[in-house]
Amino acid sequence: MNDAAPNAAPQTFYLKDYKPFGYEVESVKLTFQLSPNATKVHSAIRFTPKADAEDNRFFLHGEQLSLISAKIDGTPVTARLVDGGLECDVPRTSFLWEAEVEIDPAANTALEGLYMSNGMYCTQCEAEGFRKITYYPDRPDVMSTFTVRIEGDEPVMLSNGNPTGAGEGWAEWHDPWPKPAYLFALVAGDLVNHPGSFTTKSGKDVELNIWVRPGDEGKCAFGMEALKKSMKWDEDVYGLEYDLDLFNIVAVDDFNMGAMENKGLNIFNSSCVLASPETSTDANFERIEAIIAHEYFHNWTGNRITCRDWFQLCLKEGLTVFRDAQFTADMRSEPVKRIDDVITLRARQFPEDNGPLAHPPRPEEFQEINNFYTATVYEKGAEVIGMLKRLVGDDNYYKALKLYFERHDGQACTIEDWLKVFEDATGRDLSQFKLWYSQAGTPRVKVTEDYADGTYTLTFEQSTPPTPGQPDKAPRVIPVAVGLLSPNGGEVRGTEVLELTEAKQSFTFGGLASKPVPSILREFSAPVILERETTNSERAFLLAHDTDPFNRWEAGNALAKEVRVAMVLDGAAPDAAYLDALEKLVRDDEQDPAFRALVLSPPSQSDIAQTLHERGHTPDPQKIYDAAETFTQTLAQQLETSLPRLYAATTVEGPYVPDADGAGKRALNGRILSLLTRLDGGEQAARQYASADNMTQQYAALAALMKAEKGETQSKAFFEQWQDDRLVMDKWFALQIACAAPETTAATAKELTQHPLFSMKNPNRFRAVMGALAGNHAGFHHASGAGYQLLAENLIALDSVNPQTTARMCAAFQTWKRYDSERQAQIQAELERILATSGLSRDTHEMVSRMLSA
Ligand code: BES
Ligand code: ZN
Repeated sequence: MNDAAPNAAPQTFYLKDYKPFGYEVESVKLTFQLSPNATKVHSAIRFTPKADAEDNRFFLHGEQLSLISAKIDGTPVTARLVDGGLECDVPRTSFLWEAEVEIDPAANTALEGLYMSNGMYCTQCEAEGFRKITYYPDRPDVMSTFTVRIEGDEPVMLSNGNPTGAGEGWAEWHDPWPKPAYLFALVAGDLVNHPGSFTTKSGKDVELNIWVRPGDEGKCAFGMEALKKSMKWDEDVYGLEYDLDLFNIVAVDDFNMGAMENKGLNIFNSSCVLASPETSTDANFERIEAIIAHEYFHNWTGNRITCRDWFQLCLKEGLTVFRDAQFTADMRSEPVKRIDDVITLRARQFPEDNGPLAHPPRPEEFQEINNFYTATVYEKGAEVIGMLKRLVGDDNYYKALKLYFERHDGQACTIEDWLKVFEDATGRDLSQFKLWYSQAGTPRVKVTEDYADGTYTLTFEQSTPPTPGQPDKAPRVIPVAVGLLSPNGGEVRGTEVLELTEAKQSFTFGGLASKPVPSILREFSAPVILERETTNSERAFLLAHDTDPFNRWEAGNALAKEVRVAMVLDGAAPDAAYLDALEKLVRDDEQDPAFRALVLSPPSQSDIAQTLHERGHTPDPQKIYDAAETFTQTLAQQLETSLPRLYAATTVEGPYVPDADGAGKRALNGRILSLLTRLDGGEQAARQYASADNMTQQYAALAALMKAEKGETQSKAFFEQWQDDRLVMDKWFALQIACAAPETTAATAKELTQHPLFSMKNPNRFRAVMGALAGNHAGFHHASGAGYQLLAENLIALDSVNPQTTARMCAAFQTWKRYDSERQAQIQAELERILATSGLSRDTHEMVSRMLSA
């Protein structure tokens, strides 16, 4: 059986229809008899009707379950199986519901509910997966304590909370903290643990474990340290302590997402926890540290305080992303983290917010909630919290958070509850600010300036283009951090936060000796598109002199975009002044290497396409690619004489340490190597490849060689060396497609789908290939349409295996309206082909129809 819905009229759920569940769930006891194809789940659940329970009938969610028996207070009852669950007549007083169901974990390739991965049992219940385990009110506002008994012959059998007993063939667990079903977890298999411990600030000893398959023990130490740092940081910064005696993390190879915050038993995609210098890059290490922190931080922002319904998802995800970003900024470099996040926001959230899939951070309707774990809910959700913090100030922010934890601990909350806490803690009226949660679309903020008699005026006009279902937008509260620089470089006014609230608004600054150079939207103080007419020389000035590191980078980034846009539109040569500015910065050893690496990383080709589109041009992916190539080649030539020295100066010697300093240097070194490889025929890269003792340098060398079409030998060697390491092989698959020229990208990807190690069942591997295809801008959008076709074919094939991952990857088509009519017609045909597939999942159906209808 699969959960494919008929292609017509899937059900839509609305925020406005929220109704509380009519029963309290006093306790849940589950017994699992594990068997790959026929696991039996017995549930014993005590329900008490609430005073206002409507009638004596209740509905429990359930999908893909074979009901064996149902009883109420020990007496067999007949339940009516209905769409999505069952209905049953029940007493008007407290009663014990018991059900036995059978499920088939081995056949569960959707990886939602109870499934098997490499012989190990594993669960994923968020958002609505628990209903594939047993009949239950599977909604986040129903919270209860869980007792779990696992029967089976697996050496390790884990669930949430604390172990309460174990013997030959069984283990029992009890979680004392009431939780919604989406936080339930069970893991059973042949696992080994990497142990650790943490003492909380109130003196409680917590046992920590990272559980992995035998052979992976050596890749746990970094994750364990990250966990301890996270626990300490949450105590120090938010005053939040861990609340159980045990915290388990499990690594699993087949997982739809990155990781999951199940109470006391976090489950991780192995790519997001396993790390070693030989197999993981600096970027991997940073991501692992961040995601371990993220899932740990959910213990308070998500688990102790959860969401009333899934429309409130950003209540936990936006806040937890914001918290993990604060953590990474504290552990590493604050400006570098901010720049990285803004790059991601622009690459992932802006296209969403400005295309057919646009939705507010708190959506008001959905068909499939899994489709709303989006960049908007996560990244824009986090930006909204950053704005709130900026508006109320740090002290008020932490005061409000303290009130949030005091007032709402143990509850399932809404965005209204969240904002009320801020209103009560600060006395501020947040009704206009709330528009950030309900309005989709990225505001455009147009700035003009005026200077006369020592007074400088900045005028801001805000507007937000229409988005699907939201034609008109009201002005929002936008915090704009501004500083003023003197024309010879010093700061004449430090950063202050201007609060835009109207469609058009001016701010004046008096007592100035000369016309200042403004530095606007410092730290990227709001997720908006800033429009300001300015010159490249002013941008170059800010790149050299801005006292706000984010805006220094931003000036360089804007300059890079202008130069590239001019190259694409007018066939202009790369701007000489810009090349000079870059050269100066790269050669300046006083500057932070990580910052130099960022400035040396050109804006993505997709970013240039988006910029052209915003300015009313139709982007030509091939021209954008050619401009990028010309630019990089010219830059390499300009730097020719300094590259060997720079390469030597930025090479990190000694044992590999995955810290921010080393990572910054290696990032710069990698950029230099890629430039050098364009000139030296790959000699230096080949030497680096041969001598590298860590993946960051090995991978950087391989990437540089492959990009220059000089990496055939090394690619083969890489395969030979790493063919038994799944995570490294994902890199090998992705890199070949990422480095392919536009006309060969689709063919390269297609060939890799025929490789014996390619698999539809492993989301990491599928994403490595299809994600790299979609990420190679000029290759994916090649005029032949081969890229579109290949992705569509593979999405169609994946849909019956794994709807959730299919639906997420459909978003690769979301920018389709940017391009010319031929490409639009090709994409439209592919989308229609997907939509016409018989038995298409609800997940994919919703995504594709939204993209087609806008
Ligand atoms: N709760 C989510 C995981 C999740 C998402 C489960 C969607 C089911 C459906 C988890 O906390 C999360 O947000 N994970 C992110 C990584 C994080 C660092 C933003 C992920 O998995 O990508
Ligand atoms: Zn999360």
